[in-house]
Amino acid sequence: MMKTLEEIQEELEHVLRKKRFQHTLGVRYTAQAMAMCFGEDVAMAGYAGMLHDCAKYLSGEEMLSICKKNGIRYSETERANPSLLHAKVGAHFARERYGVEEEGVLSAIRWHTTGKPGMSGLEKILFIADYIEPGRKMLPHMEEVRRAAFRDLDEAMYLILFHTLSYLRERDEGEEALDHYTADAYDFYREAWERMKG
Ligand SMILES: [Fe+2]
Ligand SMILES: [Fe+2]
Repeated sequence: MMKTLEEIQEELEHVLRKKRFQHTLGVRYTAQAMAMCFGEDVAMAGYAGMLHDCAKYLSGEEMLSICKKNGIRYSETERANPSLLHAKVGAHFARERYGVEEEGVLSAIRWHTTGKPGMSGLEKILFIADYIEPGRKMLPHMEEVRRAAFRDLDEAMYLILFHTLSYLRERDEGEEALDHYTADAYDFYREAWERMKG
């Protein structure tokens, strides 16, 4: 049985650090508002937002061991940067602990860190809401991304992926921490956006 949003909120308040919990609520409300804006299922957006970081309290070692125990496959990039695994482990917890069976919600959680080409509406909404929620640090380009988020999902995806890739590439460990899905998603949404602009 799927737990109610309120039940999940109460559990997460005990599990997550205060700052992570506040971020979680910010993502939940932002995802719900975006679902209203784009005609997606508001309740499902709430579940996706609430649960997206539900595994983030675990250490990398713990996530790797949960993956091994449950037959969740991971890449070389994920083994080297196991914090990326909180998306896959989070989707696993959403189903096992919180009773979420809605595939759309599970896949939104699964893809919220890397993105990928050809995402669903809910997948894009969660990815974007995670980046723009009101508690996020005010980066120089944040205002532009926030405006795009309520105008055109593909444009917002393109902008976020562009800034994420620039950020990762500036850091020394950049290329290693970069999941190929993120690079593929960037190419996909840059093209989608350019096609839209004509
Ligand atoms: Fe996350
Ligand atoms: Fe997050």
